[in-house]
Amino acid sequence: MIDQEPQGTSAVEAQGHVTDSPTFPPDDLSDTALVHAPTAVADIPSRLFGSFIEHMGRGVYGGIYEKDHPTADTWGFRHDVIDMVKELGVTCIRYPGGNFVSNYDWKDGIGPRDQRPVRRDLAWHSTESNEVGIDDFHRWSRMTGTEIMLATNLGTKGIQECLDELEYVNGAPGTAWADLRVRNGIPESMDISMWCLGNEMDGPWQVGHMDAQEYAATVAKVSHAMKLAESGLQLVACGSSSAHMPSFGHWERTVLEKAYEHLDFISCHAYYYDRGAASFQDFLLSSADMTHFITTVAEISSSVKARRHTNHEVALSFDEWGIWYSDEWNRQEQRWIEEAAAGLHHDPWPQAPHLLEDRYTAADAVVEGSLMITLLKHCKQVRSASRAQLVNVIAPIMAETKGPAWRQSVFYPFAAAANFARGVAYAPIIEGPRLSTQHFGEVQAIDSVITWDERRKQGLVLIVNRDEQRPHTVTVDCSSMPGMTGSRMIIDSAQMLHEDDPMKCNSPEEPNAVVPRHVTPRSNTDGSITLDMPEISWAAIRFHGSQA
Ligand code: AHR
Repeated sequence: MIDQEPQGTSAVEAQGHVTDSPTFPPDDLSDTALVHAPTAVADIPSRLFGSFIEHMGRGVYGGIYEKDHPTADTWGFRHDVIDMVKELGVTCIRYPGGNFVSNYDWKDGIGPRDQRPVRRDLAWHSTESNEVGIDDFHRWSRMTGTEIMLATNLGTKGIQECLDELEYVNGAPGTAWADLRVRNGIPESMDISMWCLGNEMDGPWQVGHMDAQEYAATVAKVSHAMKLAESGLQLVACGSSSAHMPSFGHWERTVLEKAYEHLDFISCHAYYYDRGAASFQDFLLSSADMTHFITTVAEISSSVKARRHTNHEVALSFDEWGIWYSDEWNRQEQRWIEEAAAGLHHDPWPQAPHLLEDRYTAADAVVEGSLMITLLKHCKQVRSASRAQLVNVIAPIMAETKGPAWRQSVFYPFAAAANFARGVAYAPIIEGPRLSTQHFGEVQAIDSVITWDERRKQGLVLIVNRDEQRPHTVTVDCSSMPGMTGSRMIIDSAQMLHEDDPMKCNSPEEPNAVVPRHVTPRSNTDGSITLDMPEISWAAIRFHGSQA
């Protein structure tokens, strides 16, 4: 049974009906799946529920910041957007880019707003007013209760700028940059511990891009110097901007071999999108590509660790992930190149243009739900992740100029995990139907992860049916988890996202067209639960254990 749920992710009681326990293997394996025998992966790092705000399009200007908006505060920040960011449950935000950071001077964004220089941003061909900079973003992050993960410019800048920025942001008063911060109205250290050393430096599109050797040498020097300044920093080196880059693997190994001891994370970036009917099933199985990406980079990091005979760990920071219909941006860039070649480039350099304002379908939300399951199942290796991006630009939250903010379909799977996945992630065995795909071989139609907070005795089951065609009935058995022996799974709430038309989207006119709806899983006599999952669907079930 599926009925309409109001917006948001509020929990509503949905006590299961008790039915007979199913017998496994069932007569018709093609329609049923058993999710059972979960094994512990690792504690869930809160940074797994991070996001990303870049100075591009209407992410900052017209997104989090719109000084004439009715909900704006004296700093110009929109409070309707702040409320939605809090509701999403985002923990940590990568800032200020992205490609933008590689030609950005952080010093342009400090001091009195009316004296800040206006600059051209080469990455997105836009005008940057610098009305928002690190001081302002620090204030915003306090209001949203989020941690900042700060990216530095290694495109047009180098070691000295990174050190100056570090001193400005974190330094105790008494030295020049820290004193300037105090004079600019921020007496306390911003205590930013996670720093990204450049952005996608492997990409030929990046301002100042480098080959693997050049970047490895740069990162070794910058990370060494930054850790001399503050040994407790957590530094993220750029990994590959996609697992499909020609240098993928070679890049990671070269960087880690050169700078392993000074690094804490190596980044991964991956965007997926629906390329049309012929490959729609493969799109629904995008998490297979993400899994391959994670396991490959994790193996490289472990092998470098072993070769260097060190106990130091370099984890993965999957600090750009999500769905991005990037063809549209590529076409726009191509038009600019052609116009320039024809001598017609009048360089409009627009301010806060509408860029990458993708509208997300119900199918996109199911894929993002599936990607989140993959991140949780690999949280031993992936200790930080940022869904890209947060507001207006490939975003779960859209903000209309002078109008309301609204949630895209992809808001909901993220919010369910960010708000309720606590404790330890458990990867279950899944026995069920498999799908054959063009790129990923044979893959399970159903995927799932279970999270369990043993102290609170509260759990979350996330399930996705990635089958384009067929519904599947899924039985989940958590009886082997610690503290669950002899207990029943008591359902606190269960929600499902599925639309008969998987292309359905939310819009400003219909902001609640695609929302999760309450469902009622069946409780079986053996303590397991069963849920019917339509084709292309995602579900989140919150439960607690109680003695049978
Ligand atoms: O998120 C949009 C862009 O995607 C980022 O600026 C860049 O890092 C990536 O290529």
